[in-house]
Amino acid sequence: MERIQLKTPSMEGNIYIGTNVLDARLPFLTAGQKNFVVTDTNVYSLYKPFFSQYFSSTEIFVLPAGEENKNFQSLYAILEKMTEAGLHRDSRLFAVGGGVVGDIGGLAAALYMRGISCVQIPTTLLAQVDSSVGGKTAVDLGGVKNVVGAFYQPCEVLIDPAFLNTLPAREIKCGVGEIVKYAALNGEIFELLEANTEKWTDVAFLTELIAACVQHKANVVQADEKESGERRSLNVGHTTGHAIELASGLSHGESVLYGMLLETKMAIRAGVCERTYGERIIELIKRALAINPVEKVDFSDIGIQAEKARSDKKNTADGKIKMAVAKAKGEWTIFSLDFEEYRASLIEVSK
Ligand SMILES: NC(=O)c1ccc[n+]([C@@H]2O[C@H](COP(=O)([O-])OP(=O)(O)OC[C@H]3O[C@@H](n4cnc5c(N)ncnc54)[C@H](O)[C@@H]3O)[C@@H](O)[C@H]2O)c1
Repeated sequence: MERIQLKTPSMEGNIYIGTNVLDARLPFLTAGQKNFVVTDTNVYSLYKPFFSQYFSSTEIFVLPAGEENKNFQSLYAILEKMTEAGLHRDSRLFAVGGGVVGDIGGLAAALYMRGISCVQIPTTLLAQVDSSVGGKTAVDLGGVKNVVGAFYQPCEVLIDPAFLNTLPAREIKCGVGEIVKYAALNGEIFELLEANTEKWTDVAFLTELIAACVQHKANVVQADEKESGERRSLNVGHTTGHAIELASGLSHGESVLYGMLLETKMAIRAGVCERTYGERIIELIKRALAINPVEKVDFSDIGIQAEKARSDKKNTADGKIKMAVAKAKGEWTIFSLDFEEYRASLIEVSK
């Protein structure tokens, strides 16, 4: 079992990675206070023995699976159940699931009695490499992703790669998409991924990558918890990715992969990203997309979808569209364009 520490001004917590983390940590973490679990319908039905082993006498809120349920109504229902369950200030919430459960569960923990203890148990690759770490919690509102939320650090994150054994190929692809994001920012992860393309769906190799990505994220979050500087790098592909996600039926992970593809091409075209390196990133993105290919994505409406990027949280009052992009190996930058330039460039690179 590997332990990564995360110290921020608001919290000092641990992230444990390994197939023995649940047995090693849950008996201790569940003892001594009232607990509450948030999970989703898929995870609940796949992991009944897990819930009965560790949470047999705990109130479990089972959210219908899917991003469309990461909303205010679900948040309200969770908070109502927490109140009915009689949770106190010293109670603890366990979010067991993918990024949707982690984001909404984390936000419920942040809001209830102004904040109760929260443990994240991520069950998708995307949540294990990225979303469970760093304390961003949120729900979507009015067609805008993650617009209502809080920075709220979990006291612990328990990452058991055994959960990946039941994950459909499409979800593995989404998680590999986030790993490619780390590769775009970190030379060592880039080399590891590029040199081992045949192992990308192998759980043992993914475990090594999870630890490397989590360590990278922990370093970044420690330096910049509230995203005023370095943490913006973790949004590689996300400006256009969120616009695609809102306008298409694609999942978050798939949208980020396409967002990274288009933004890397735009950055190469503008001379912001070094060409040979950018093309190597594009190769990694295409390989990730090929893990579970969807029918050819239609970008004929991309000019209209671009409008969605305007509402992205990463933009500021100057009206420019801001994208975190890779520049050279291990280097990134913020690439800003006026909206019309952004739209024109997006249409050009998506042809
Ligand atoms: N907070 C952050 O820093 C952060 C970072 C990245 C993404 N996110 C958010 O994360 C969400 C995407 O997360 P996601 O891709 O995990 O989506 P998700 O939570 O919807 O999970 C994807 C699917 O996998 C199922 N699933 C979960 N675990 C499983 C398992 N072990 N076996 C089989 N099926 C399983 C879920 O039920 C769901 O159907 C988005 O809402 C995104 O905005 C947050």
